[in-house]
Order: sequence, then structure tokens, then C-alpha cells
Amino acid sequence: MTIATAPGKIILFGEHAVVYARPAIAVPVFQVRAEATIEARADLRVVIDAVDLARVYDLSDAPADDPIATIIRATCARLNVAPQNFSVRIHSTIPMASGMGSGAAVSVAIARALAKYFDVTLSAVEVSALVFETEKLHHGTPSGIDNTVIAFEQPVYFVRGQPIESFRVARPFTLAIADTGVAAPTKIAVGDVRRAREADRARYESLFDQIGAVARDARRAIERGDVDALGGLMNANQMLLREIGVSSPEIETLASAALRAGARGAKLSGAGRGGNVIALVDEVTQDNIARALLDAGARRVVVSQVSTNEERINEC
Ligand code: PMV
Repeated sequence: MTIATAPGKIILFGEHAVVYARPAIAVPVFQVRAEATIEARADLRVVIDAVDLARVYDLSDAPADDPIATIIRATCARLNVAPQNFSVRIHSTIPMASGMGSGAAVSVAIARALAKYFDVTLSAVEVSALVFETEKLHHGTPSGIDNTVIAFEQPVYFVRGQPIESFRVARPFTLAIADTGVAAPTKIAVGDVRRAREADRARYESLFDQIGAVARDARRAIERGDVDALGGLMNANQMLLREIGVSSPEIETLASAALRAGARGAKLSGAGRGGNVIALVDEVTQDNIARALLDAGARRVVVSQVSTNEERINEC
């Protein structure tokens, strides 16, 4: 039996604009994980057991656009092995369709588990590239930020089409991640933004430029440990996301509740329309803010610390 896992993720700054080549910042979230287990089978079949979807099916019966089947086939092709004689069980604690990268994390866990099972080393770059192909099924036109941050398991400053850049987190900071409970498929929000941009290119290009500038400022703030500046930048990013049309009443309710309870900043994270709201909290305010978020209707709240580079190395 071979097991591999992958963390969730959130986008801190720059979602949507990142599809149009502006920079974005994403960080892994280790409190939630996807897990893939590979077991040998006596027969030739490849049986997929998607525990959370309560679905058991054969690889040979999977439709061409099935993301799990796609990552299994792509990984086996890369490893130069025939997809046969094994079962793949997938279980994940990452909420689906909520901006925490559940699809990419499941694919990363499967690619890692298969590589381990067949005793081949795959680099993070290779895993990320394999998963990018399956992300196209989830997203249509993904920027590549999800597969990158999850395969590398470290904060990334991401610009589409450019090599990944990690950066220094000078001071740890803490986020409350609150689920609106509204599942909002990324593909739809991304498609709506594309159509809106086609209708008013100048306005949208300017909004994307402003979001890119916020992401650049945020990187500098994180690198110099200026947690105070981060909150304001999150609020500025949320205002711009509202302008491009991807906020929602549920998101606004949670963001306002967090700010009223003392958060230094709050914004949606990921595709928007639902999914998660992230709020910048600290040791003193985190319990109050988590309670306020639950009272305002959040389905669940995960508190996650973004560690400094030194802390991450010590944890490894
Ligand atoms: O909903 P998520 O977290 O998977 O991310 C979507 C992020 C977008 O910028 C909206 C799309 C993308 O591919 O980067």
C-alpha cells in the first residue's frame, strides 16, 4: 500500500487578474489535505474509489474528461508504466469548489502516490506540469497557480508563463479561512470575467493592472514583515474583485463580519461568487473573528498560519 498527500491552498492576492498575466500570491494550507492510496490488484483492472464522491469506477469506463482518470493516465505515461493492476483510493478534507484547490490537490496526491508506488522520483516541476493538464478540465483556462503552489508546498509569487518565484516571509501571519458554503465552479466565474472583459476591455485591463499592483505591494509587505500593510492591501484587492463582478452577498457578509470583529483585512479567495473568505487575524483577535464568521453564516472556519521560511525549514 502506498500513500501520498497534498495540501490545500488559498490565493492571497491577484486571483482573476493572474489569468491575464498579472502577478498573484498563493500559499499552501496544511490543515486540510488530499490523500491518495495505491494498492496492487491481482487482476488487470484499475479501480478508482473516490471516497468523498461515494463513487467506485473502473479507469476503462471513465469519460475522457474525468480529471482523476486523466491524472492517472498522464502520470503512468510519464512513468512509462501501463495503467493496470492497481486501485486508487482518494480521500480529501479540502472543501470542493470553494477556492482551496481541492481538484489540484487530489491530482498532486495521485501523481505523487503513483510515482512512489512505481519507485520513480518526480520533481515538483514535473508533478506541477502533469497536474496543469488536469486543471484544464476543471477550469477551462487555468493560470497554473493552483498546481504550482500545491506541488511546491510553499508560498509562491506567480506570473503566468514565468518560472515559479518563491519569496521570503519575514514575519508569520495568521488567516481565518471561512467557507461561505456556496459552491461556485471556477470555470463559470472565469468565463463571466472573460466575457465582461471582451465587452469593456479598457476598464477590465485597468482593473487587472490595479490588482497586479496590489499583489506586487503585498509581496514587498510580506518580505519586510509589514503585517499591518497587508490588511489594507487585502481590502483594496477585495474592492477591485467586487468591481470585476466576482463578489457575492455571502462573501460581503462574511468579510464585513470579520472586519467588524477586528480583522485587519478581508477578501474573497479564489474564483469568488462563493467559496472562501480570508481574514487577517492575530493571536488576540482570532477567536472572536472565527466566532463572528460562524455567527454570520460561515459553514466552517480554518485558522492557518503562514510561516516564515526559517520555520518551514525547521518543520521539514
Ligand atoms: O477557485 P480557485 O481557487 O481554484 O482559483 C481560481 C483562481 C483564478 O484566478 C480565478 C483562476 C486561475 O486559473 O488562476
